[in-house]
Amino acid sequence: MGFIELAKRRHSVRKYKDMAVEPEMIDMILEAGRIAPTAANRQPIRIYAVQSREGLDVVREAANFFGAPLVFVICGDKNSAWKRSYDGMIATDIDASIVTDHMMLEATELGLGSVWICKFDPVELKKGFEMPEALEPVNILAVGYSADVVKSPNRHDTERKATCELVTFI
Ligand SMILES: Cc1cc2nc3c(=O)[nH]c(=O)nc-3n(C[C@H](O)[C@H](O)[C@H](O)COP(=O)(O)O)c2cc1C
Repeated sequence: MGFIELAKRRHSVRKYKDMAVEPEMIDMILEAGRIAPTAANRQPIRIYAVQSREGLDVVREAANFFGAPLVFVICGDKNSAWKRSYDGMIATDIDASIVTDHMMLEATELGLGSVWICKFDPVELKKGFEMPEALEPVNILAVGYSADVVKSPNRHDTERKATCELVTFI
């Protein structure tokens, strides 16, 4: 499958089968995250791969993850991330989001459903997983076998803005 076909096939899944994701697949998703680029190659990332009942209970306190059997909490470490000298911008959110996107698309390639989640309580997550002070949860990626309706890969024709609305050619 080419990249555009893969990207068009992916859609947010908010209903999952009660089926565990195989360890080999989890490894491949984590490998996709591991090889993602980060600013200055600082790799200021920590990923919590959550499958246990206790772990999922912690995440449930912070977010709705739609009953997925597997949840990744992708975090950025402010202390080790690259910082832009001009304005002090710290690249944790960008780095963590590229890692998340790599993982999400690998999940799609493996035939799994996923949904990216930012609506969560970071204080609950930090407390529940006893994260170090400098670590910020940036994204949750819920993954599993989809029990949701399959969306058409052509839906972007209407569900996304046209290129001319996004781009300024100069
Ligand atoms: C940064 C980001 C945050 C998101 N947060 C949530 C969320 O908290 N809950 C949710 O149900 N979906 C969330 N989504 C999924 C988007 O709503 C979804 O990707 C968008 O509507 C496009 O639909 P599609 O993924 O099916 O193409 C998030 C997506 C992104 C990229």
